[in-house]
Amino acid sequence: KYNIDRKDFLTLGEFSSKEIHGLLKESIELKKMTKAGKNIPYLKGKVLGMIFEKSSTRTRVSFEVGMLQLGGNAIFLNSKDIQLGRGETIHDTAKVLSRYVDALMIRTYRHEVVEEFAKHASVPVINGLTDLHHPTQVLADLLTILEKKGKLSGLKMCYVGDGNNNMCHSLIEGAIKVGMHVSIACPKGYEPNEQIYLKAMKDANASGLLLEKSENLAEMLKDADVVITDVWTSMGNEEEASERIKVFTPYQVNEENCKLAKKDFIFMHCLPAHRGEEVSASIIDGSHSVVFDEAENRLHAQKAILKLLLS
Ligand code: CP
Ligand code: NVA
Repeated sequence: KYNIDRKDFLTLGEFSSKEIHGLLKESIELKKMTKAGKNIPYLKGKVLGMIFEKSSTRTRVSFEVGMLQLGGNAIFLNSKDIQLGRGETIHDTAKVLSRYVDALMIRTYRHEVVEEFAKHASVPVINGLTDLHHPTQVLADLLTILEKKGKLSGLKMCYVGDGNNNMCHSLIEGAIKVGMHVSIACPKGYEPNEQIYLKAMKDANASGLLLEKSENLAEMLKDADVVITDVWTSMGNEEEASERIKVFTPYQVNEENCKLAKKDFIFMHCLPAHRGEEVSASIIDGSHSVVFDEAENRLHAQKAILKLLLS
């Protein structure tokens, strides 16, 4: 019923807004089936290979459970344990694994790695997070906003914190595609990737949407419907952690600055979170927070991705 006209799922920027809306509708239908205990084995006999070069709780478990609920199976491949970790090329790994599995999910550092896998694999490749993008998370985030607010178009999202990170980039791409205004509050030197930002700005201008960034947290937070943040130190940046704490401390999302957002704002975070750093405990554990519904939605959104790419 819904179509996505690509082999791979690498970034949200590649998809049309119609395709993203189709993925969201498919997610809602699959979620309803799961809640009613009526999963349909759309992917019977299909196998997903999952290569992880970084840690994961949600992505790993939701992809694995998602495949099982769709009647298929998933194989966890720690990059250290396969020959890729000993220097076998991406080219050869992608070609070999394509002979065994029906799709590949990869979590890695450089975004070029998933692009190279996609180039050489004959099966669909799904980006399970790179340093630059986290598109499966943001599809789940859009689903969560739609469920909580009843719409996406016209809402204001404020992202607070590290602008130059995977979550911020995928949120910019995804939120603009579905008609949301996006404000980014980030310190100097931690602005979003310029190429991604300028490309999204073109989309925003064409749709009459606001996309803005500033060091001024109060200005960006004003009247936000969705307040979203992420860790200050992403996987791979660990050696900068103490410097980052200094720079980002004024950007903690807390009770005081959330007064600037709309009264009925929702708070989101892809998790894992650090209470007392990027967000106060009172906000993430408070009445505006939707973080566990957001985490659950990884499962439903990813099943939609798998179903549309594989069937
Ligand atoms: N949000 C997210 O991707 O979580 P994991 O790192 O646990 O997969
Ligand atoms: N920006 C974080 C997201 C974790 C899911 C990281 O890359 O570590």
